[in-house]
Amino acid sequence: MMNSPRLAAGFAALLALSACAREAAPDEAPAPELTETARAATGALGERLKARLVETIAGEGPIAAVAVCNLEAPEIAGAVSAETGMQVGRTALRLRNPDNAPDAFERAAMEMFREKLEDGADPASLEIAEIVDAPDGKTFRYMKPIMTGAPCVLCHGTDVSEELRTAILERYPGDRATGFAPGEMRGAFTVSKTLAAEGTRP
Ligand code: HEC
Repeated sequence: MMNSPRLAAGFAALLALSACAREAAPDEAPAPELTETARAATGALGERLKARLVETIAGEGPIAAVAVCNLEAPEIAGAVSAETGMQVGRTALRLRNPDNAPDAFERAAMEMFREKLEDGADPASLEIAEIVDAPDGKTFRYMKPIMTGAPCVLCHGTDVSEELRTAILERYPGDRATGFAPGEMRGAFTVSKTLAAEGTRP
């Protein structure tokens, strides 16, 4: 037992060495504050969007809510991004707005979430937080699944009304974001932040 800390240090050194030998960037754990801010940002975006949606559907009906989603979703995401200093948005494997298309990292993360959900994982337990090398330097990335809830199927379900379907297709002619059942993954929140150039080179 006395030896174990030294053993552990030895293993860590070996791991670090083998990571260098592979010339792959070793996985770097993001500072916990980054992950906490990202979680808070996705929570704020989700809550504000849902509040506007519920409010508009109740006050003006679902057709008006399509326009609200269209115009306000990017605005709300922009406001949360400015408040948190992180780029926050939504993406999906089957899209409504092509502006929300995933990059390779986002696609891989959502495919990983989908597999874990199929294996019975609790959606609330799923997230990914990593530091990756990007052209602008080291970048913090965070993602978390967005699950389909009961109010979502109105516009994303298997049985979208004719009237609503027409309003959606007017704005999004290539819409692929219907056919979801409650409890299925609809997409994901995605957060990124370019970290200070320090650390990009030793
Ligand atoms: C009133 C119709 C309506 C309802 C209800 C609705 N959405 Fe959407 N959803 C939209 C529209 C319109 C867009 C495109 C927004 C944009 O242009 O960014 C969208 C986009 C999205 C996106 C972004 C990815 C993409 O495909 O462009 C996600 C994720 C999403 N919705 C999830 C949900 C969830 C989860 C709910 C339930 C809480 C929900 N939506 C309820 C209309 C709706």
